[in-house]
Amino acid sequence: MSSNLKNIIITGAGSGFGRAMAIRLSAEGYNLILSDINEETLQETARLIKSSETKILLQAGDVGNPGFLKSMVKNAIEEFQDLHVLINNAGISGDVMNMIDLPEPALMRVFDVNFKAYWLLCKLVAKKMKTQKKLKPIRGKIINISSIAGKQPLEMLGAYSCSKAAVNAMTIILAKELAPRITVNAVCPGFHVTGIYKNDPNLVQDYMKIVNQKIRLRRLGTAEDIANIVSFLVSDDSNYMTGQLINYDGGIIFH
Ligand SMILES: NC(=O)c1ccc[n+]([C@@H]2O[C@H](COP(=O)([O-])OP(=O)(O)OC[C@H]3O[C@@H](n4cnc5c(N)ncnc54)[C@H](O)[C@@H]3O)[C@@H](O)[C@H]2O)c1
Repeated sequence: MSSNLKNIIITGAGSGFGRAMAIRLSAEGYNLILSDINEETLQETARLIKSSETKILLQAGDVGNPGFLKSMVKNAIEEFQDLHVLINNAGISGDVMNMIDLPEPALMRVFDVNFKAYWLLCKLVAKKMKTQKKLKPIRGKIINISSIAGKQPLEMLGAYSCSKAAVNAMTIILAKELAPRITVNAVCPGFHVTGIYKNDPNLVQDYMKIVNQKIRLRRLGTAEDIANIVSFLVSDDSNYMTGQLINYDGGIIFH
């Protein structure tokens, strides 16, 4: 482990990026608090983790429910005392439709999961980080999994794009407010094959078009690509970085 920050919360750990990050970070020696709305897939992630040297706490529940987030953080503190890294990752794409046709509950659900839950966990965890043992130079890190859609919004995915734009803005605001001992960065993935897309066969064809027309590195991303950049962000090698919205998309957008 290349950091003295040991205990990490990961939401959405039952699939895709969350699972890949859990496997990678456990192998690197971190203790993990893993959560997901799907208890079965969450337990499957725990089974896939080979390391017996690190501790894992599983918390199944809906991040859209503030009561669940509060109890998860309370349980995590009881188990591990200190919380060092928060990785906000659980997300949904929402309905694929024009924004003006979107029913209000559908918009609110996307915002509850993709933005409000991120904010509430940042709030709960950052307050805890501020009161705990003063590790130097960095006391805690927050990593928000956002999307390039937050910078270059996608039609038909309006609620999703707006929620990710809000996550990007919050990342910069919190980086300024929580400096100098807590860093806050966001990863903006592009098109990666994970559970969020793989249930839709039409998307495979669309994806090949995207690879040929948009992705300069000419391949789709994987969940492990995201685990790689997150491993760097958790480590001491990224200690001089805060408030950054990092595109990790194979070269699609450049701002
Ligand atoms: N896959 C991509 O190409 C891509 C691109 C850009 C951004 N992202 C973002 O990355 C993050 C992870 O996505 P992924 O691709 O790994 O998707 P995924 O569907 O494979 O994994 C998301 C996980 O979050 C969980 N989840 C969903 N709603 C939840 C809720 N209300 N409470 C708790 N858990 C919940 C799901 O059960 C699932 O295990 C999301 O925030 C997504 O917006 C993904």
